[in-house]
This record gives sequence, structure tokens and C-alpha cells, in this order.
Amino acid sequence: MKHIRSAFGVWRLAFGDREPVDMTLLRYSIARVAPSTIKFLGCICLTASLLVLSGCDRLPGKPKESDRWQPAEANKDFKSLFAMNCRACHGDEGVIGPSISVLDPFYATIVPGDVLKKVIAEGIPRTGMPGFARSSGGELTDEQVEILVNGIKARGNTQKEDNLPPYSAPLGNAGHGSEVFNQDCAGCHGQLGQGGKNGGSVVEPDYLRLVSDQYLRSVIVAGRPELGMPNSQKQPKGPPMSSEDISDVVAWLVSHRQPNEVAQATPSPIPNGTPQ
Ligand code: HEC
Ligand code: HEC
Repeated sequence: MKHIRSAFGVWRLAFGDREPVDMTLLRYSIARVAPSTIKFLGCICLTASLLVLSGCDRLPGKPKESDRWQPAEANKDFKSLFAMNCRACHGDEGVIGPSISVLDPFYATIVPGDVLKKVIAEGIPRTGMPGFARSSGGELTDEQVEILVNGIKARGNTQKEDNLPPYSAPLGNAGHGSEVFNQDCAGCHGQLGQGGKNGGSVVEPDYLRLVSDQYLRSVIVAGRPELGMPNSQKQPKGPPMSSEDISDVVAWLVSHRQPNEVAQATPSPIPNGTPQ
């Protein structure tokens, strides 16, 4: 009974007779066993990494060969050149740009290759179209400009239909143009061209100041089909437009420009905005 007179006594009764852990033996075992275990685990890890490295070519995040940096002039791919330099303004499949779709098959058929080359290389002065050739302060080589020209022309129809209006022509008769406008355009753009239910104003001086005469003609010839404006051959009311009718409507639109704000007031490489 003397054993259980205190808490200490209870503890002695429960554990007092046990052998203490032999610390010397424990330390000895750790010292013997640990190094061989570490070596064993290390071997497993090394083997696993070698397997991963040799067995699978693609580690997550490893760049592909095509991701390797290359100088800009090495790019000879039409799609990528167009996407990087033109798509933001001229759109592409599924992307509508603020300016005419130069990849539209009708436009690509009508526009002459030499005009494309000049416009892409030198730009169009006093408009938002920059020059891309190095000689014009751009970054494209002559070869890249050529790739763009050929790529755009390839979107056109190889067999050009007869009676398509020519890409460019001199301005026509504004008086007759106003009649043509009422017949072919007013249904969407309003009677005086000031905007209707299916099209915005096309007589705003601020708009007309930004675009060349040739651009207005190109838009009427090829339309903006991606926005709902038909090309000159698919008129909702009436027959396909003749080249003269187109020249007359352009003259009528241009007559709304403020005299001092004419985009072509100063000499430009494209006389009267009509590349020949
Ligand atoms: C079926 C409707 C429709 C008809 C017909 C139509 N347009 Fe349009 N037009 C549009 C739409 C839609 C746009 C694009 C949105 C906008 O600018 O209003 C447009 C845009 C334009 C633009 C600006 C294009 C640009 O890229 O800056 C001009 C210029 C224009 N039309 C002139 C004409 C002329 C001239 C005619 C007649 C020969 C005509 N349109 C016939 C619907 C039409
Ligand atoms: C910053 C916007 C912008 C970029 C980028 C741009 N363009 Fe243009 N482009 C325009 C504008 C605006 C016009 C209309 C100029 C005018 O009024 O004649 C135009 C006109 C054109 C025309 C003549 C349209 C006509 O009247 O028949 C062609 C062709 C053309 N661009 C091709 C290209 C190509 C190809 C590229 C890429 C290498 C490109 N553009 C890049 C804004 C741009």
C-alpha cells in the first residue's frame, strides 16, 4: 500500500518496473540504417527522372520548335503576315475590321495586283492606310509585300466574269449620281445619304475627309458584305450597277466634302485617289 500513497506512487506502480529505452542502441540503429535508406530512395528518384526525360519528349511548358524566335523578315507565311499587319483594320474570316475586307473574293478579283503592291508598300497618303515597305518606313521586305499581294489575289475568282466594273475610273456626273443613289442606296442609307434604318450616314464631311475617292469606289464596287452592304452586282432594287453609275455616285458622295478638307487636295502618288 505504501506505493500508492501519492500520484508519484501511482506512476511507479504503472511504469516503474519497465526497462528504459536503450538510447545507445537507438542512435546506433539510426546511424546504420539511415544512409542506406537515403541512398535507396535517391536511386528511385533518379531512375524516375531519367525515365521521364527519355520516355516523354514534351515536358509541360517546354517550347516547341516553331516557338523558337526568328527574325521578322524570316516570316514567309501569308496567313501570319496578314494577321500581324492587316487584320486589325481589314478583318479576316470571322473578324470584321473597320475598313474594307480585302480578302473578300469579289474585292480580291477586282483589285489589280500592281495596285495592291503599291498600296501595301507605300500606303495611301492622308488616310489611315500606312505604308509597309521598308522604303516607306514600314517593316516588311519586298518579298513579304509580294507574299501579301499573291495571297490576297489568290482569294479572288480565277475566272473573272465578264462585265464586272473596272476597279478604278475617273469621277462621273454628280447630278446623275444623286438619282442613282436614290435608286440603289437610299433604301439603306436614307434619302439624302444621312443615314437610314439599315446603314449609317455616308455624306458626313468628317467621314469623307478620311477616305479617298478610290476607297468610295472600291466600297461601292465590292460592298461591305460582312456588314450587310451588297456588292455592285447584287443590287436589291434594280440591275447590277454599271461602271458609269458607280462613277456618278462617287462624284455625288465626294461633292459633300468640305472644299478645304479634300483628302486629295495635295498631290498624291495616286492621282485623284484613283490608282490606275
Ligand atoms: C442593303 C443595305 C445597303 C445598301 C443597299 C447600300 N449600303 Fe452602303 N452600307 C450598308 C451598311 C450596313 C454599311 C456598314 C455600316 C455603315 O457604315 O453604315 C454600309 C457602308 C457604306 C459606306 C462606308 C463604307 C466604309 O468602309 O467606310 C459607304 C461609303 C456606303 N455604304 C455607300 C453606299 C452606296 C453609295 C450605296 C449604293 C450604291 C450603298 N452604300 C448601298 C448598307 C447598305
Ligand atoms: C491602321 C489601319 C490599317 C492597317 C493596319 C492596314 N490598312 Fe489597308 N487601309 C486602311 C484604310 C483606312 C484604307 C482606306 C484608305 C483610303 O481611303 O483610300 C486602307 C486601304 C487599303 C487598300 C485599298 C482599298 C481600296 O480602296 O481598294 C488595300 C488593298 C489595303 N488597305 C490593304 C492592306 C493590307 C494588305 C494591309 C496589311 C499589310 C493593310 N491594308 C493594313 C487601313 C489600314
